Amino acid sequence: MRVLVLHGPNLNLLGEREPEVYGRATLEEIDARIGERARLLGAEVRTFQSNHEGALVDRLHAERRWADGVLFNPAALTHYAWSLRDAVAAVSLPCIEVHLSDVTKREPWRRLSVLADVRAALCAGRGMDSYLEALELMLEIAPGPERDAEGTVALLAERLAHPEERETLARELAQILRRSGRFRWVGLYDVGAEHVEVCGWAGPAAPAHPRFARSEGLTGGAVASGRPVIVQDVRTDRRHLATLEGTRAEAIFPVVSPLGVVGTVDVESGNAQAFTTERIRWLERCVDALAPFWQGEPQHMG
Ligand code: DQA
Repeated sequence: MRVLVLHGPNLNLLGEREPEVYGRATLEEIDARIGERARLLGAEVRTFQSNHEGALVDRLHAERRWADGVLFNPAALTHYAWSLRDAVAAVSLPCIEVHLSDVTKREPWRRLSVLADVRAALCAGRGMDSYLEALELMLEIAPGPERDAEGTVALLAERLAHPEERETLARELAQILRRSGRFRWVGLYDVGAEHVEVCGWAGPAAPAHPRFARSEGLTGGAVASGRPVIVQDVRTDRRHLATLEGTRAEAIFPVVSPLGVVGTVDVESGNAQAFTTERIRWLERCVDALAPFWQGEPQHMG
């Protein structure tokens, strides 16, 4: 994967510029850390800084066929330079907006971002780590050939057409979804009158709670409403019941039959903000394709 990193005006003075706001690392140090992390993750990175709006537009155009995604800190241009918004829309690459400081907690004029409707996510307020988090997130969310919805839906349907022992089938379906969507963990659950119970999962470890009350956790919210519950940072949601350590974003999709909610699909990521609009749409299509898994024999659960 190839990632273009763009830095806007005054970021060339990082290190000496308002260190109490932006930290002491220089731009060279930040770029070096991004490069190092990219190498570890098997990605290629190109970085560019300019104090001029047009130069950033030009660079975005020039790299549009090379890059798979863009990390963009437009600095003060964020708040008024609409040509940057149009450039991001024009190149139609996934773009993550990055800021060292937490722009939502500073002067009111910094709350406006020209990228708000074209960015895939926002990583801000974590100093240099904002860039590193954005890089890891980009590697997860940038579309790759494996993440075409038609292809994944066809794979799921094909698997469902060959009946298997139910547990094996659940595990394989979870694995298809996990691999195609580059998620950290995926689980398929049965929803009974009292409890929710895992039928199959794919990921680094078994769920900490394979069975729990149907009102508990984020699942409780999805079961009660019949609508997906999507949490971009589980540290901010008190309902969260940890399936496994290290999950940052989690989405629960209910599977609804005429009898009510019969199942859920739990999708987890190690990156906060992992559920972009595009990925949610993709997941909704996959969950629709998974629904036949819960048809047929009713589950005898408490
Ligand atoms: C910044 C935030 C902007 O509001 C400001 O104008 C900058 C830096 C950041 O990284 O925190 O120059 O983008």
